[in-house]
Amino acid sequence: MYARLIGTGSCLPGNPVTNNDLAARGIDTNDEWVVTRTGIRSRYLAEPGTTSSELGLVAAQRALEMANVAASDLDLIIVATSTPDFIFPSTACLIQGKLGNKGAAAFDVQAVCSGFAYALGIADKFIRSGSHKKVLVIGAEVFSRILDWSDRGTCVLFGDGAGAVVLEASEKPGILATAMHADGSLSGILNVPGQIAGGQVTGDPFLRMDGPAVFKFAVRVLADIAEEVCQVAGIKTCDVDWLIPHQANIRIIEATGKRLGIDREKVIVTVAHHGNTSAASVPLALDEAVRDGRIQRGQKVLVEGVGGGFTWGAALFEF
Ligand code: UT7
Repeated sequence: MYARLIGTGSCLPGNPVTNNDLAARGIDTNDEWVVTRTGIRSRYLAEPGTTSSELGLVAAQRALEMANVAASDLDLIIVATSTPDFIFPSTACLIQGKLGNKGAAAFDVQAVCSGFAYALGIADKFIRSGSHKKVLVIGAEVFSRILDWSDRGTCVLFGDGAGAVVLEASEKPGILATAMHADGSLSGILNVPGQIAGGQVTGDPFLRMDGPAVFKFAVRVLADIAEEVCQVAGIKTCDVDWLIPHQANIRIIEATGKRLGIDREKVIVTVAHHGNTSAASVPLALDEAVRDGRIQRGQKVLVEGVGGGFTWGAALFEF
C-alpha cells in the first residue's frame, strides 16, 4: 500500500512586495544585496488580520478540488506551521472546522522549515499502517508576524503563504521513502526565543538567526538526506526527475543540486518570487510545478526541508 498524491493546492496573500518596496518602507536594504545574496526578488506579506488557518484553508480547498475529494471524506488532517493562529486549538483543528469535516484526526507539526517534509513522512506512515485512507497535509505560515522589521539580516528573507496536498491509500506507487532528523544542540542558530508567562510574551518574540551557520549546515544535510531517501528507494539522486528543496536561498538550492548531481533544469525554484515561507515553501513550489505542467504523472519527485530545531526531512515520491 502506498500513500499517493492526488491533489495539490496553494494560496499566497495579497500582492508581491519587492525588495525595492521594502527599501521604500524604510528598511536599510537594497535590491542588489538581496538578489545577489539570496536570489529573492519579492515575497507575499499577509494583511495584519490574516491567519495561517485562512491561507491553509484556501490551499486545502484547491488541493481537494484537484483531488476530487470531499472534505467529509478526509480521515486525517496534518498542518505544518510555526505560526499557528493560537496556542491552541491547533491550526489543523481550525481548518478542519472551516472545511466542515467532523471526526478526522487533526494535529499540527512543529518542525519549522522541515515541517512539510515531516508531515508528509507522518502521513505516509499512517496510510501504510492501514489506519487512515485519505489525508490532507498542509504547510501554512504567516512568518511576517515573527520578523523583527528592524533586523535587515532576517526581515528581507521571509514571506507568507500556504500549500497543501491530498494523499490517498493506493496500490499504485506514491511515496517511496521518507526520512526525518533533528539535532537539538543547534537550537541556538535559528529560533524565536519568546515564552508566554503571566499571560504575556516574555523574552524575544522575533526570529533570530546566525545566517552563515545555518547556510553551511543546510547545504550539508539537504544533500545527505536526499542521498538517504534515494538509497532507501534504490535509485541514484541523478535519476530523480524533480528536486524541490526548501526555498530559503538560491545559493543553498544550487549548491545542493550540484552536490547531488541533479541538473539545474530539474530543480524547482520559487524563492525568487515567494521568499522563504518556511513550512509552506515546498508545497507552494510543488503546486506551482504541478499546475504549470512541469511535474507529470509517473515522475519521481524529491522534496526536502531544513530549519529551526535543527530539523531536516525529505520525501521521495512517484507523482
Ligand atoms: O529557513 C531556514 C533556513 N534559513 C536559511 O537557510 C538562511 C541561511 N543563510 C543565508 O541565506 C545567508 O547567510 C544570509 C542571506 C542570511 C546572509 O548572507 P551572507 O552572505 O552570509 O551575509 P552576512 O550575514 O555575512 O552579511 C554580510 C553583510 C553585512 O555587512 P558587513 O558587516 O559585511 O558590512 C550585513 O550587515 O551584508 C549586510 N547585510 C545587508 N545589507 C543590505 C545583511 N543584511 C542586509 C540587507 N541589505 N538586507
